[in-house]
Amino acid sequence: MKILVAGRDGQVGQALVRTANKRGLELVALSRQELDITNASDVELAIAQHNPDVVINAAAYTAVDKAEEDREQAHSINTLGPELLAKACDAVSVPFLHISTDFVFDGEKESAYLETDTCNPLGVYGASKLAGENAINQLCPRHIILRTSWVFGGEQNFVNTMRRLAKDRDHLNVVNDQRGGPTAATQIAEALLIIAEKVVNPAFDNWGIYHFSGAPAVSWYEFACEILKDVPSVTVTAIPTSQYPTPAKRPANSVLDCKKIETAFSIKQPSWKVALTQ
Ligand SMILES: NC(=O)c1ccc[n+]([C@@H]2O[C@H](COP(=O)([O-])OP(=O)(O)OC[C@H]3O[C@@H](n4cnc5c(N)ncnc54)[C@H](OP(=O)(O)O)[C@@H]3O)[C@@H](O)[C@H]2O)c1
Repeated sequence: MKILVAGRDGQVGQALVRTANKRGLELVALSRQELDITNASDVELAIAQHNPDVVINAAAYTAVDKAEEDREQAHSINTLGPELLAKACDAVSVPFLHISTDFVFDGEKESAYLETDTCNPLGVYGASKLAGENAINQLCPRHIILRTSWVFGGEQNFVNTMRRLAKDRDHLNVVNDQRGGPTAATQIAEALLIIAEKVVNPAFDNWGIYHFSGAPAVSWYEFACEILKDVPSVTVTAIPTSQYPTPAKRPANSVLDCKKIETAFSIKQPSWKVALTQ
């Protein structure tokens, strides 16, 4: 099985490369310079040249706040990009695996979100990712969309931001009224590679959307306390979102129900605490 990955240099892209290497899987990962997913000829050329059995899109526009004023770029990368990849995969009957987000929901639900729950993104980033999901759904029936949340394990993420701030400050305020499942990029990569191995079987027919995130669900404040538990010089204080205004509104409840992926692929919800210590 040969896997082609777009978005090599992102958190999940890098984790896919590391994990495939460890597992001895054949994986070609292309950087943005090698494969710009918003460029139709780049997309067609990459698939023709590498002739993969599965394509994984790890490329995305992930700057949630910046997207509010950079709408065109966010939609180009998160909607047009997946659309071009889906079209190209369908043309050569190659399964397409894509990553989406908890930000497709408005966070108003009391309990964990199911794959069938109504989407209602609160900002440009979530809307652009939802439009990407819809394009894939229309253009490439043989797809898996993995919705995940609160990704860490690369350079730019909440874990590293907390650690960086803790070097200069003795006190941090962190919001306590947004809940979600932190998810290590490596855990996402492992799930995607298990799925890739299953979808190449011609008999596979469990296509569609799956939720996958780390457990247990926590608030950003609780996550920060765990990240900084070995840094006693820093005090972490819980604050409401109203005291930390951001350009993009975020869902209060980002918790994803992950039972469907366990039933279909035997992929259990991973522990983010284990990944954090690693
Ligand atoms: N980060 C999170 O907390 C989070 C939460 C939920 C879901 N997700 C989803 O998980 C997936 C992976 O996220 P991540 O955290 O790994 O993202 P990331 O670290 O921001 O990486 C995204 C990568 O995509 C590349 N890229 C941007 N535009 C591109 C284009 N036109 N063509 C090719 N590559 C392009 C970026 O390249 P440059 O470095 O050159 O910009 C970057 O290397 C995304 O679909 C994201 O929406 C992320």
